[in-house]
Parts: sequence; structure tokens; C-alpha cells
Amino acid sequence: CGIIAYTGANQAVAHLLDGLQALEYRGYDSAGVAVLSDSGNIHVVKCKGRVATLRERCQAANLVGTCGIGHTRWATHGAPSDRNSHPHTDCSGRIAIVHNGIIENFEELRQTLRLSGHEFRSDTDSEVIAHLFEEAWRGPAHGSLVDALRNTAARLEGSWSIAVECADAPGQVVVTRHGSPLVVASTAEGAFAASDVMPLAAVTSHVTQLDDGDVALLSRDGSVEVFDAAGEPVRQPKTLDVDWDASAATLGGYSDFMSKEIAEQPEAIERLLKGRLGEHGIEMDELDMTDEDLARIDRIYIVACGTSYHVGLIAKTMIEHWAKVFVSVEYASEFNYSDVLVTDHTLCVIVTQSGETADTLSAARRLKGMGCKVFAITNVLGSSAARESDGTLYIQAGPEVAVASTKAYTAQMVAGALLALRLALACGQMTRAEVEKVFRELEKVPDAIREVFRRSWQDKQAVPLFRDAQSALYLGRGTSSTTAYEGALKMKEIAYVHAEAYPAGEMKHGPIALIQPGFPVLAVVPADHVHDKTVSNIMESKARGARIVAVATDGDEQVANLADHVLWVPQMDEYVVPIVAVVHLQMLARYVALAKGLDVDKPRNLAKSVTVE
Ligand code: G6P
Repeated sequence: CGIIAYTGANQAVAHLLDGLQALEYRGYDSAGVAVLSDSGNIHVVKCKGRVATLRERCQAANLVGTCGIGHTRWATHGAPSDRNSHPHTDCSGRIAIVHNGIIENFEELRQTLRLSGHEFRSDTDSEVIAHLFEEAWRGPAHGSLVDALRNTAARLEGSWSIAVECADAPGQVVVTRHGSPLVVASTAEGAFAASDVMPLAAVTSHVTQLDDGDVALLSRDGSVEVFDAAGEPVRQPKTLDVDWDASAATLGGYSDFMSKEIAEQPEAIERLLKGRLGEHGIEMDELDMTDEDLARIDRIYIVACGTSYHVGLIAKTMIEHWAKVFVSVEYASEFNYSDVLVTDHTLCVIVTQSGETADTLSAARRLKGMGCKVFAITNVLGSSAARESDGTLYIQAGPEVAVASTKAYTAQMVAGALLALRLALACGQMTRAEVEKVFRELEKVPDAIREVFRRSWQDKQAVPLFRDAQSALYLGRGTSSTTAYEGALKMKEIAYVHAEAYPAGEMKHGPIALIQPGFPVLAVVPADHVHDKTVSNIMESKARGARIVAVATDGDEQVANLADHVLWVPQMDEYVVPIVAVVHLQMLARYVALAKGLDVDKPRNLAKSVTVE
């Protein structure tokens, strides 16, 4: 979910709607605003669906007021509907709240509140916050928004970022966080709070980061006061420079963000590689570890979710191949509830584009608690992952807005390669010259991706095979099995085709039963040391009537003769080819989604930043 709050001299509704538009990638099941008029009335407009719908409703409602809060929702408790949309109000309608996170004890709180006369109007866990705030405001904390919110938060269990406005305190908004992201900013336009810096990039270049338990009071004069969990003023809250150009998060002539972000991959990788090869090997001061520290590492846990998990699988192959250090890659949501076997020299690497994925952060905290150093690979400056880790490598890919990750995926793989090479040298497994050789291969990636762009017609030609398919199989071996996983994920996420990815050699132990004449099989089979084995699996599929789409290396006539369509990639080092091959699969999924008339940027049920467990 995304939260925005504003108070100042301008009409609030325009800031709120623009802010929600910028935050919409965090969830788009429903959206809403509550504007507090200068005469002290709260007017709520909210609806199921997109911010565009909310904008129309707001125009019709003619909301007047210079203070307000807004929300865009990714549903957890309660179906997406008008009544479950935020903001929620208390019984009197004089307090409005928006919430991101999960209130784990909401059932118990709701019962207690009902007994004392509160009536509930939604199925959400969040509504309890409005009623608790009402009790706190009318009770001992009366007169202090900050104390009322502190008292409210003290009764909650779970995770939250919350913004509250109260008709009895015109011109003020109070916010707090615990385990969910929130930043505040004092600007020339007024005071703001938001889930992330995206909506603020247009109005300021400095934001203040809140720590868990902090409460911030936003006032009409544009000031922001921060208090800690004990209610004491925080004299020097942490600030963060926002270096994202606001226009970076606009379409800039592209038809959708996914196509823009696919197109930005070569430049993102060039930025990341720039200046990384130094006299002594890979420059990675962000690791903040000496060669001796690195050489002692005997185990690495890479923890991540979704597309970032696939980055972990690629990074594992690179680290084990080049640095010869054992790596275990874990889904964060599974890792948090399983046994963890750390040694005295275990390194934890978290990979998270947003830096806010709740499961990934929990895993990192757990490993940190066990004494491991935590290294983050992320795209978002000042994100929780960056703040809580011992070292952070920013991939500098620029804002990624489309829900399905593309440029963050390829840039994170490059970051994984840099980490692997840095380790390899420190561990004495590679010489400086060997590292340089691989680095030069990485430098070829941007142009190879540009070449793949010129071949997008090949992806377009393969669309009919998938457009009407219920299901498809994606196969590959070694690093190409990961490319298959990621390609299948893209196909599921945005084109709603059930695509199952399997290590090609395992296919004969089950999934082969799915194949019947016309069934689409996508095989990732670049020129590498397992090429011929995968070719055998393609033959097995073809023998049973499968239609074959292959990702293959230029000049591979064997595959050309077998496949119905080939998505060609230039000759590359086999450890680097996944960064290029996947680009075809990103484009293929997008073309299939477009052919089906789908919104490629905002696929159903998904959110880009999942800040709940
Ligand atoms: C969500 C997104 C995915 C993303 C995953 C992990 O599920 O829809 O595209 O890969 O979160 O996100 P992270 O920000 O941690 O990389």
C-alpha cells in the first residue's frame, strides 16, 4: 500500500492525487483521500479501482481544504471494495486514518472496541486504528495528536505506517511507523509524509527518515517535528538526499513503464559497471570488509523474493564458480520459519529492488541477530534494506515503476557478478587478470542487450504460440534454468499464461506428461557446457508434438533446425549470457500481454513493493 499526507497553503487534493499516482505501483486495488477543510470537516472520497477513478470522483466532489491524507491499497484483510478502501474514520467521522501494514491483533482489539460501543464499517484490520485513536484523543492524550498516536500505536501488534488527521486539529497531520516505510519532508509547498520518496521527488531534494516508533507532526506552516517513541523530540532526525529526477518516473514518450524500463537496461548496467575495475580488482567499498574478512567467509546465505530470488540463483552460480564459496539461496518467506545453519564466518546477502520487502527484511534481521554481516543489493536509496545492512550496493537503475521487474533484475545480476569477482580475488581463487577478463565480458552486456532489442521482431513472431495457450513449459539447465524461471514468472505475472519452469533434465520426471501436440515449450539453450544435454530435452519435447521456442546463440544450426521459433542472442560468456537472454523473455511476455489487451504495468492482484509478510 502507499500513503501520502499533505498540509500547507495549497489545496491538498491535487498533492494527494499526484502523490497517489506516483505511489500506485505499491498497490492499486482501491484508493482514497480524506481532506480536512479549514472549517474543520473531514470529507472522504474513496473507491475500488485505480487512482484515475478516484481522480474523477474527487473532481465531482469538489474537495476544498489544505490538509489531507491519501492511500492506495493492496488488499490484505478484506476484499477490494469501496467500504474496505482507506481512509477509515472513527464513529464521529472527525478522525481519519490511512494504514500500510498488518495489524495482527485486530480481531481482539475490534472485540474490545465493540464492547465499548464502537461500530465498524469495514472488514479491514486497519479500521481499529481510527477507533483506538478516537479513544486516545478523547482520553488521557486529549489535545496532543502526537500522544494520541503514541498511545494508539502502543496497543497495536504487527507492522504499520499510519497517517492521521483530526477535525479538532485543523491544519495538522500526525504520522508514525513500525516496520513499514515512511518518510516526511518540510518543503516550500508545505509538509508531506509518504511511503517512499517517489511522490516527493518533484517538490524536494531532502526527506527525513523516520525510525520505528518515531512520530512526526506535520503543520500547516510546512514544518515537521519528529518525536521518538517516548515522546521526546528527535533533535537531528536522519535526512536523505533525493537524487531521483522526478521525470525519471514518467513515461517520457513510451507507451508503458515496462517498455521504458526494458529499454533502460543497457544504460543502467553501464552506470553500474563504471569505475568498478580498479588497479587491485573490483572496487566495492560498499562491502566495508577487508580482503582478510572476505577470505574468511565460508558460507553465504542469499535471501530474496520474486524476481530478486532469481538474481540470487544466478549470483550463487557465479560465486561458487569464481570464488568457490558455498552459497545457499533462500526464499525469504520460507527462510524465516526454517532452521538456519550459520558459521562464525557466514555472510548474508539480501537482494531487494525496493529495499522494503517485509519477508526479506525479517530474514536479514534474523541473520544479523545471529551475528552475520548483512550486505544489501538494492535500487532504492535510503530504503530499510540499505539502512539496516552493514553494507549496501546500489544498482542505480533509477525508479522502476512497472510491477514486473526488468531493469532491476539485470542490474542486480551484474551487482551479483561484481560481488562474486570481488570475493574471488580476495579468496585467492582468481587473479587480477582473470577478474579483468570476466569484467570485459560484463562490459559487452549493454551492447548485446541493444542487439537483442533490434531482434524484438523474433519475440513478436512467437506471440501466437502463447497468446491462446492455457499453459507452457519453460526449460533450461544451469544458469539457463534460472532464465527459464524468470521468463516463466514474467509470462505468468503480466500475460496470465500459466508457465511452469523446470530444469530441463528434470522435465522427464513429471512435466513431460503435460506435452501434447501444439503445447508450447520454451527452451533456453545458449552455447554453454550443458547445451547438448538441453538439446536432447528439446528433442524429447518435440517427439511428443511440442511447439518449440528456443533462446539460442547466433549460429546454432542444430537448434534452428529443431525449433519453431528462435530468439537469437549474440555470442557471450556462458556466465554472463543470462543477463542478455532474459531480455528476450521480458519482451516476449510483454508482447503476449499486449496481444491479450492487458495492462502490462499493473497486472492484477500484484504490487511492486510488498511490505507485509
Ligand atoms: C513483488 C513484485 C516482484 C518482486 C518482489 C520482490 O512481489 O511484484 O516483481 O520481484 O516483490 O521485490 P523486491 O523489491 O524485494 O526485489
